Amino acid sequence: MCGITGYVGCRQATPLLINALKKLEYRGYDSAGIAVLDAGEITVRKAKGMLKVLEQRLAGETLSGTVGIGHTRWATHGEPSDGNAHPHTNVSGTIAVVHNGIIENYARLKDWLAERGAAFRSQTDTEVIAHLINYYYKGDLLHAVLQALRRLEGSYALGVLCRDFPDRLVAVRKDSPLVVGKGQDETFIASDVPALLEHTREVYYPDDGEIAVLYRDRVDFFAGEGEKVSRATQRVEWDVGAAEKGGYAHFMLKEIHEQPKALADTLRPHIAGTDGHKDIFFEELCLDDFKTAGRIVIVACGTAWHAGIVAKYAFEHFARLPVEADVASEYRYRSPVSRPADLFIAVSQSGETADTLAAARLAKRSAAKVLAVTNVVGSTLAREADRVVYTRAGPEIAVASTKAFTTQLMCLYLLALKAGQLRGTVSADDYQAYIAELEAIPAKAETALKAKESLQKCAARHFNKAKVFFMGRQFDYAASLECALKLKEISYTHSEAFAAGELKHGPIALVDERTLAVTLATQRGLFDKIASNVAELKSRGAAALIITQDAGGYFAQCGDETVVIPDVRDAFSPLLSVIPAQLFAYYCAVQRGNDPDKPRNLAKSVTVE
Ligand code: F6R
Repeated sequence: MCGITGYVGCRQATPLLINALKKLEYRGYDSAGIAVLDAGEITVRKAKGMLKVLEQRLAGETLSGTVGIGHTRWATHGEPSDGNAHPHTNVSGTIAVVHNGIIENYARLKDWLAERGAAFRSQTDTEVIAHLINYYYKGDLLHAVLQALRRLEGSYALGVLCRDFPDRLVAVRKDSPLVVGKGQDETFIASDVPALLEHTREVYYPDDGEIAVLYRDRVDFFAGEGEKVSRATQRVEWDVGAAEKGGYAHFMLKEIHEQPKALADTLRPHIAGTDGHKDIFFEELCLDDFKTAGRIVIVACGTAWHAGIVAKYAFEHFARLPVEADVASEYRYRSPVSRPADLFIAVSQSGETADTLAAARLAKRSAAKVLAVTNVVGSTLAREADRVVYTRAGPEIAVASTKAFTTQLMCLYLLALKAGQLRGTVSADDYQAYIAELEAIPAKAETALKAKESLQKCAARHFNKAKVFFMGRQFDYAASLECALKLKEISYTHSEAFAAGELKHGPIALVDERTLAVTLATQRGLFDKIASNVAELKSRGAAALIITQDAGGYFAQCGDETVVIPDVRDAFSPLLSVIPAQLFAYYCAVQRGNDPDKPRNLAKSVTVE
C-alpha cells in the first residue's frame, strides 16, 4: 500500500512527481504529498484526499527544483489528514522522507527520539525515520541512513532527501517494492514500473536491504553494511499505452476489455506444434516436479486465491493430483503440514503481497519447491521463488483485479494440463482437444464481452439490491467466489458466494425479495441440480440472473434473466463466466456513483499485513 516516487535530473521535478503519483494512485489515495529540493531548501506540500486536491493546492504556485520525492497514501498509522500525509521531515525540515510499508517498532523509537528532543507532528510510523536519520546525521547522509536502518523493524521502501545534498536522493527497500529507473541524464524511483514507463524502460530492481543513491547521471548501490555493489539495468517490455486509459472511462473497464489479448499473450509462449500435434511447454520449469509431486499446495490472497481454487479443481480433474488451496495469511500462521513431495505454488499479480511472500518463504524453509505465478518481472516473489511462470496481462492499474485473474487461470490450466499429460491422466486425444479449446478462449472472451450492453441494463435494474448471492457447483462455485468479490469491492453491495449444495445448510435463511441470486450454470452434468437451486431461491422472493453457456435454452424458463457465454468445456468455464460478472460489478459501481478504479478502503498492493 502507498506509492512512492522520486526524481533527480535536469527537468522540474514537481510535474514529474505528480504525474508519477497519478500512475501510483491505485496503491492508496487518502492523501498525497511531494517534497522538492532547491537552493538549499526542501519545500513540502501535502494534502488530505485524492491527488487532485494536492494538484489544486499546487496550482498557482511555482515549486521549482530538479530533485524531489512524492507519496500517495493508504493510511495505516494515523487517520488520513494533511499532517499525516507524507513526506515527513525532521524538526528543522532539512531531511524529508517518503515511505511505503510499516515500521513495527515505531512507538518505542518515538519515545526514544522524543527523550532526545525530537518533536513529533504526526501520528504516523514514518515520521520516526526522518528524526532517526537526523539523529545519526553528522554530514554523511549514507552513513546516517545506514545507522537508522539498523534500528528499524518492519517493511519499507523509502525515498530520502537531505538539504545538504542537492544533487542526490537516497532510496532503500526492505520487504516493500521499489524500482529504480535510469533515463538520459535523469534517474527515478517508484513503487511500480508504470510510473516510470513514460521516461525510461531501463530499470534496476534493488535487492532486499539494498540502498540506492541516485544522481542525475548514475545510481550507486550499497548492501546493508554500506559496501558498494554493482547492479545491471533490465529492460521493461510493457508498452507505455498499457498504463493509460486509452479512451475508456476507467482502467477497470479497459482491463476487462484487454482480457482477450492478455489471455492470448499468456498462452502463446507455452504452445508449440502443428494442429493435432501440439504440446505445452514451460522452459522455465523442471517438469519432473509435476511427475514426482505427491500434492500441490497453492497459496495466494484475494482474487489470486480464487484463481488457486479454480486451479485446485483443474489439477484434480486433469492430473488427479491432490491440491490444497489456502489463503496465504492463514497458511503462514497455522502449523501447515508439509511433505517432501509437495509442490508449492504461490499466485500473485504484484508479486509483492506480504502474506503470500511470507507463506512462500515458509514453504521454502520446509524445503518445498516454490513455483511463482506472477505478473511482475523483478517482483520479490519472482526473485525468491525457485521457478517462475509469468502471466502476460500487462500492468493492471484498477484496484479490482480482472485481467490478472483470467491470465492466472490460463497459466494454471496450462500447468494442470501439462501435469495431466506427464502423469498419464489425460489421453493424447483429449490433450489435443483441450489445447485447442484453450487456444479458442481469447476469441470466446471477445464474444463474452459483447454482453456488455445487456449487463449495463441489468446493473441499472439491480444495483440497489440489498444483497447479491452468487452460487454454483464445482468450477462454477470457484468462479462464483471471484464474482462476489468483484461486486462487493467496487459496488459496496453485500455479496457472497455459496456452493449451491450448501444453500439449504444455512445461507438460504438470508434470501428474501431484496436479494439478487446470480447463478453460474456451466457444469453440464449438474444442470438439473442447479436449476432446482434457482427455483428454491426464486420461490423465496429472490430475483434470478443466470450466467450459462447453454444456448440450447435449458435455463431460459428458469431465471428472470439469462446471460449466455460462448460454449466452453465445463472445466474451462471460469475463464469466460467471470467476464459478465466483472462487467456487472463495474456497471453497478458506476450506477452507485462509485469510482470503480479506486474503491473505498482498498489499495491494490497489500504489502503490509
Ligand atoms: C481483488 C484484488 C485483491 C488481490 C489480492 C492479492 O480485486 O485485487 O484481492 O487479488 O490483494 O494481490 P496479488 O495478486 O498482487 O498478490
